Amino acid sequence: MRRNNFSIALLLALPSVFTGSCADEAKQPEHTAAVRSIQLPDSTKFQASIDGKQTRLYTLKNSNGVTACFTNFGGRLVGLWVPDSAGNFIDVAIGLGSVQDYAGPDDAYFGASIGRYGNRIAKGKFTLEGKQYSLFINNGVNTLHGGRKGFSAVVWDAEQLNDSTLKLSYLSKDGEEGYPGNLTVSIIYSLTENNELRMQYAATTDKTTIVNLTNHAYFNLNGEGSGSIGDHLLTIDAERYTPVDSTLIPTGELAPVAGTPFDFTKPVTIGSRWNEANEQLKNGGGYDHNFVLNGSGLKPAARVVGDKSGIVMEVFTEEPGLQFYGGNFMAGKNTLKQGAKDEYRTAFCLETQHFPDSPNQPSFPSTVLKPGANYVTVSVYKFSVRQ
Ligand code: GAL
Repeated sequence: MRRNNFSIALLLALPSVFTGSCADEAKQPEHTAAVRSIQLPDSTKFQASIDGKQTRLYTLKNSNGVTACFTNFGGRLVGLWVPDSAGNFIDVAIGLGSVQDYAGPDDAYFGASIGRYGNRIAKGKFTLEGKQYSLFINNGVNTLHGGRKGFSAVVWDAEQLNDSTLKLSYLSKDGEEGYPGNLTVSIIYSLTENNELRMQYAATTDKTTIVNLTNHAYFNLNGEGSGSIGDHLLTIDAERYTPVDSTLIPTGELAPVAGTPFDFTKPVTIGSRWNEANEQLKNGGGYDHNFVLNGSGLKPAARVVGDKSGIVMEVFTEEPGLQFYGGNFMAGKNTLKQGAKDEYRTAFCLETQHFPDSPNQPSFPSTVLKPGANYVTVSVYKFSVRQ
């Protein structure tokens, strides 16, 4: 009910933005073929009962017109409309058109809130306080993004706190997916007046456990259907990265990026080196690696520029790592929300996180959470245009 009222209010207040029509198509620059105006997804396609809980679509908006849609199924970012250089709103978050699609077999964590442990845990095993735990193996020989049914596939409790803020909550029970401890998790997604999508994660536990939460949004800053991300310009604030074996588990080394295709310390197009003969690129099928971020606190992590749209996305995070995934497993199996296919390397993810397999890598920053401690971490995706 609340969202319906909100949508109606938006439609009345912003007729030029929320037209949902293509009447002014002729005036748009060529590159905005994907999105000309903000056409919100059909909310009825997000209404379902899953695991006895109701799913729906939630819409956030700031006073600049920047708009984000989420569903509480998997805490998924469904769409994110930001202005391009010409002032047209582009949906830069690549996503699907219905809750059934998100729950389908080919979903690749589109826009999902990821947990209890984002990224991989070698062989699905880890030891805490002398006890070994086994997780479901869902990625070759390893566990990925929580296991068989991670936080990306559960229905979160959702509360829209105001027009620009959504709070998602979930209780991950002791033993769920093999992890110890009842973990009480919340994520507050908010759109700020600075055109930032701010993500604040919090968790507490009643038994010692491991936690590594992230968001798995796929972006194409030129919009859905605009082709490869290869010409996007990328900077990552990292002098080192964590090389991986052929199953994408870190070797434990923090290797310098200097002199390798992993050097994004100066802006470089994503595609300029991704096919180079390099063992790490071979292991990842391209870029699928964790970068060791410089600095501490809420610090700059990455900057991406959409070559056609001029949209700039900056990433800030309190996390020590950033997984840059270049869409290597995208294979055109999913139809996206505006009808394009999720073709190979047509979107990227920048997942703020602790390093992969940290529970088995004593030299990496710890992901252990103990009873009485508060897990709190903030990450931000900020949007502007190239000057
Ligand atoms: C990424 C991961 C990739 C791939 C992708 C989903 O986070 O690093 O290897 O699994 O998720 O397709």
